Amino acid sequence: MTQDDVTPQDPAAADETPLGTDGQPLADRGANRSQLGRTQNFVEYVTSGWGPRTSAPVERAAVADFTAARRSALSAHFPGARLVVPAGTFKVRSNDTDYRFRPHAAFVHLTGLGMEQEPDAVLVLHPVEDGTGDDGSAHTAVLYMSPMAGRDTPEFFSDARYGEFWVGARPTLEDVATSTGIRTAHLDDLRDALAKDVGTGGVELLVVREADPTVEAVVEEIRATEEAGERDDRLAEALSELRLVKDAYEVEQMREAVTTTIDGFAKVVRALPAALAHRRGERVVEGTFLGHARQEGNYVGYETIAAAGEHATTLHWTDNDGAVRPGQLLLLDAGVEVDSLYTADVTRTLPVDGTFTEVQRRVYQAVLDAADAGFAAAVPGARFRDVHEAAMQVIAARLEEWGLLPVSAAEALLPQNQHHRRWMVHGTSHHLGIDVHDCAQARAQMYLDGVLEPGMVFTIEPGLYFKADDLLVPEEYRGIGVRIEDDVLVTADGNENLSAALPRDPDAVEAWMASLRG
Ligand code: GLY
Ligand code: MN
Ligand code: MN
Repeated sequence: MTQDDVTPQDPAAADETPLGTDGQPLADRGANRSQLGRTQNFVEYVTSGWGPRTSAPVERAAVADFTAARRSALSAHFPGARLVVPAGTFKVRSNDTDYRFRPHAAFVHLTGLGMEQEPDAVLVLHPVEDGTGDDGSAHTAVLYMSPMAGRDTPEFFSDARYGEFWVGARPTLEDVATSTGIRTAHLDDLRDALAKDVGTGGVELLVVREADPTVEAVVEEIRATEEAGERDDRLAEALSELRLVKDAYEVEQMREAVTTTIDGFAKVVRALPAALAHRRGERVVEGTFLGHARQEGNYVGYETIAAAGEHATTLHWTDNDGAVRPGQLLLLDAGVEVDSLYTADVTRTLPVDGTFTEVQRRVYQAVLDAADAGFAAAVPGARFRDVHEAAMQVIAARLEEWGLLPVSAAEALLPQNQHHRRWMVHGTSHHLGIDVHDCAQARAQMYLDGVLEPGMVFTIEPGLYFKADDLLVPEEYRGIGVRIEDDVLVTADGNENLSAALPRDPDAVEAWMASLRG
């Protein structure tokens, strides 16, 4: 199905427009497949005769109470600056077909809009005198967007990206104002609104970069100063740091994402016989989880890693085009992203036959012990990096016990050595939320060196990966990759493993798999 190019602005003229001539610009060639009528009669007919809309009235979303507080917190960092937070636009996947639209995380966080909402929209925090803005802050928020076009417009029937005939009815300005609690305005008003009082008027204009090139270009044209880039970085940093501690709404969304993810893992275990029977069993695993994520949430939060046997030693194995064979371990790293766009990020390494071999269990138990050490360190007042360090103590100790280290565990753990990291080159934890690697632009003092606070959500995901051609380990270890990844919420007196309902102890994993497979 492709978009027919009607020339609707001037239907009468369109009637006579020659198509497919030698002089036709390449940019217009897409219209050469058009079979839609181009006559004025057609346009008049297709835009008339439609009944009243019957959709249910839009209500204020529960998240709206939380987003107001988030915007106020941001406002406090940037008095006098106009802050521009684009949702982003469509990205071309192939010729004239786009990837599914997903708004920028900062936009989601500040507006509460989620699934498919709202391409090309731009949230702007306009500076006002301190205390006179929204909720007594120094800014008032306006959401600029392209509302649903009337049925009497060409967009209605001929625009494959935005038209109601093609993508369904889009919201009106009033709908979005009601659901978000944010004042809305037409996108056509954006440019003037951004330019007001910038420069000589004393207003500084800052934009979230790499979200929407069109908006970024408009901002750059308006301000045309050298220092602006640096201040944009401050905005990106503040937006990331604003998400380090989740509010009650976000924690609830994370719980939903994790619960739905756990259900997906159970579906995968039930699908293992089908995976074993297929030449690309890893795709059966991936497809099973993806189907579940689409049915129960918005999508997967990141490309699923479905890695059987040796593939598990490739950290981001997303080709998933291998077989799943008896006797192997299957490393499944997958997360459902719920409709609000919060995602889980969970890994389990499962014995395909339902039972670990002795050496698989030995490696698995070492990784589990490392994860448990990480959990013990993940308490308020500790530093984020302490979680990793606790896990590494265990990994180094086990490798020493097995005779794999060329030095003692204590020596390996010295910053200048790190021999143990040969078998776990990735970090143990990352913040989690709307982005799977959330808060990525936070400063080191707030992230790695940051102090843990109640409300933080991050992963604990140690692993051990022995490649098939690793000559430094005995043969029995070669080709084994194990990762165990859970999602942890820091609480007032410790932490809660949000993914605890998915078995992690090896006996519990075997019992759970047996119960699912009957
Ligand atoms: N799934 C990617 C990660 O664990 O960070
Ligand atoms: Mn992770
Ligand atoms: Mn993961």
